[in-house]
Amino acid sequence: MDKFVIHGPTRLEGTVAAAAAKNAVLPILAACLLTEEPCTIRDVPLLEDVRTMARLLRSLGVKVEQRKHTIKIEAAGKIERTATYDIVRKMRASYYVLGPLLGRFGDARVSLPGGCAIGPRPVDLHLKGIAALGANVNLEHGYIHATGRLRGGSMLLEGTSGPSVGATANTMMAAVLADGETVIQGAACEPEVSDLGGFLTAMGARIEGCGTPAVRIRGVKKLRGAEYRPIPDRIEAGTLAVAAAITRGNLEVTGCEPAHLASVIDPLRRAGVTVETGRRKMTVNAERRPTPVNIATSPYPGFATDLQAQFTALLAIGDGTSVVTENVFESRFLHALELNRMGAKIDINGRTAVVQGVPSLAGAQVMASDLRASAALVLAGLAAKGETEIQRIYHLDRGYESLEQKLNGVGAKIERVSY
Ligand code: UD1
Repeated sequence: MDKFVIHGPTRLEGTVAAAAAKNAVLPILAACLLTEEPCTIRDVPLLEDVRTMARLLRSLGVKVEQRKHTIKIEAAGKIERTATYDIVRKMRASYYVLGPLLGRFGDARVSLPGGCAIGPRPVDLHLKGIAALGANVNLEHGYIHATGRLRGGSMLLEGTSGPSVGATANTMMAAVLADGETVIQGAACEPEVSDLGGFLTAMGARIEGCGTPAVRIRGVKKLRGAEYRPIPDRIEAGTLAVAAAITRGNLEVTGCEPAHLASVIDPLRRAGVTVETGRRKMTVNAERRPTPVNIATSPYPGFATDLQAQFTALLAIGDGTSVVTENVFESRFLHALELNRMGAKIDINGRTAVVQGVPSLAGAQVMASDLRASAALVLAGLAAKGETEIQRIYHLDRGYESLEQKLNGVGAKIERVSY
């Protein structure tokens, strides 16, 4: 296993590039199952989650060839229909093979994913989506087995926490080859869902309304292979922006789409950070402790839950008290307990964290609990005085490509140590 040893405090300065969006790449790779023709995906970030998706596709008999950041996928010949527990338990997004396998072959068996560090993450909406398309859905020995020739249908995919990114994407992938028209109401509007729509359209699918709560799909008989470049990762870009703010640094973040980042740029500015946006880039400059701001996560275009932990780390050194409300997931505050070990003063009460800003954090040994929590601890380590040691960095490697190298390139002092 690897850990990070970070020496702080440091001030970040320079130019750093964000990669393509993990959360767009994963469903796009799964969507390649919808055709027997070869597909080429470019700019793919080298992440553990991408490797896991490639492993899953290979386990189904799909040909996957990767050369640096380009992946070629060909789902021809005999394709298996089962995503095993072994792979699904490692990565929930393995669930994305359900829609395409069912849509193309009328048969998919996917292990139930089980628990997760950020709270219960049910799959009821995924199943509601495919059931509305006429699939027979059964639970067999821990596996969801879905069968049947799909036909278009209408459904409302919203749950109590709002729309679901995964259920929207899965239902879209199932519906593109169904007979007739499908209307998904309450669809997730995240840019990654729209990007999947862009890829499916490039494959010959007929989809309208992606990026809005009502997606309309007219089924086609067959899809063709396509070449695609996914959108930039707004979560990585947002993490880098907060890295500039927390170190009172000055970073130019390139390869990002500022239009997707409005919900994080606005609270950064309210916190006294200067953010200037340009074409596919932004510069972030901070000169003092952040002014307290309250944030509440919500589905896109609201403040992304995947940036909540990082922003909480920033507010931990704020000049006053901020309130952070997590509306998307039930228990996504494990990072706060670790931040408190570094001297932060964060009180958790249900879905709310009251963050009483302190002048500075102190390096400590901490443990990463999930992907974005790990990123928050790295940011805290950059700003903290002394040495911070972060264990279980494998969480971070799932979603950030060589984050330590990127940050070291702009002034951080992070060492990766195997133990
Ligand atoms: C995706 C992202 C994840 C992000 C999340 C919310 C990927 C690979 N992951 O996860 O990084 O944090 O969106 O932006 O893209 N829910 C149900 N029933 C379901 C499905 C979801 O109740 O069948 C609930 C979830 O528990 C959660 C909310 O809906 O409270 C949103 O979850 P969802 O949008 O589905 O998240 P994921 O697609 O798993």
